[in-house]
Amino acid sequence: MSNLNNLLSVERIESRFADGKELSDAGAVTKKSPLSKIRIRHLLWIPSLLFTRTYRLLPSILKDLLFWLSIIHKSPASKLFAKTGYDEFRTNIDIKISSLAIKGAPANLRKDLESAFSSGFYSVNLSNLSKLDQLINDVINYSNSSHAGARPYFKDGKNKQIENSFSAYYSFSKQDNQKINSIIEKDLNPNFDYYLSALAGYKCKLRDISYSLSIVSGANSNDEMHQDTYASVAKGFLYLQDIDSDCGPFEYLEGSYIDASFRSNVTNKAVLQNDTHSAGSTRLREDTLENGMSRYKLKSFTGPKGLFVIANTGGYHRKGSHNSNKPRILLSCGVKRKGAINKLLINLFEIIKSAFK
Ligand SMILES: [Fe+2]
Repeated sequence: MSNLNNLLSVERIESRFADGKELSDAGAVTKKSPLSKIRIRHLLWIPSLLFTRTYRLLPSILKDLLFWLSIIHKSPASKLFAKTGYDEFRTNIDIKISSLAIKGAPANLRKDLESAFSSGFYSVNLSNLSKLDQLINDVINYSNSSHAGARPYFKDGKNKQIENSFSAYYSFSKQDNQKINSIIEKDLNPNFDYYLSALAGYKCKLRDISYSLSIVSGANSNDEMHQDTYASVAKGFLYLQDIDSDCGPFEYLEGSYIDASFRSNVTNKAVLQNDTHSAGSTRLREDTLENGMSRYKLKSFTGPKGLFVIANTGGYHRKGSHNSNKPRILLSCGVKRKGAINKLLINLFEIIKSAFK
């Protein structure tokens, strides 16, 4: 392996983990209290908080009527709508609108972009990670870890604790996100933004990506095959270690995002069976998992450190099994999730802009 890919920070985390030391204690810098971190720009979150609060308070049928194209409305809230083609219809609308993200791209790229759009992923190997070392060391010191949705139990309502499950996600600061983007940009195909846009379903750029350092060991709630929501969402995984089939590789059911009929059937069934524990990110279990696995090809992203995968997590995906003594360490990342109307306006604007080029 080239020296350019050496990451002492990752080796340090591995040895702290092996010694059983608290990862959040790593380093000497004192963390700031949550109150001291509040900035004026955080006031901009108020409208979106109000939006989410209003959504939560509404009766199920009103949620289905008023929020039908919203990205936060992950699955039908009422059984009345779950018995209809409501979810399939809006999923198909999202697929159509998201596919417009390809239309503004240069003609010679469209075939490859369509293939990434249909499969649901794009990957590339980065060869120069060593410049990330300091940023990885720093983030453990200044950021408080969170589980970021990776819970130590399956979302089946039983709340049974998974033994030896460990998940810690450390979010990078705005400045460090841009530093990471500048570092990896040098190593990326110049057309990367087009692939990212095809998977996010709207025109976006590398600089829109924000990152977390993800340290995971054992199983967690992400081990179940699931969709994040009914609509396209772009997430990424930059491997900081060599990942084989025992190290929790990212796994994806190829082509599942564009299958509105199958996905909405699974979602409707979950709603009708009162499976509210999956919080709308519906899971494939038992017969449905078997059905999904036989329907789509399972793509398991094993590979060397530097493998960078971007996927549309509106399609089915999971963390593969982790049976290693070392934790799995990677940068997980994503761009903002957007609803269908937002995506449509952005994509139409880009198509018009490209027509005048
Ligand atoms: Fe997910």
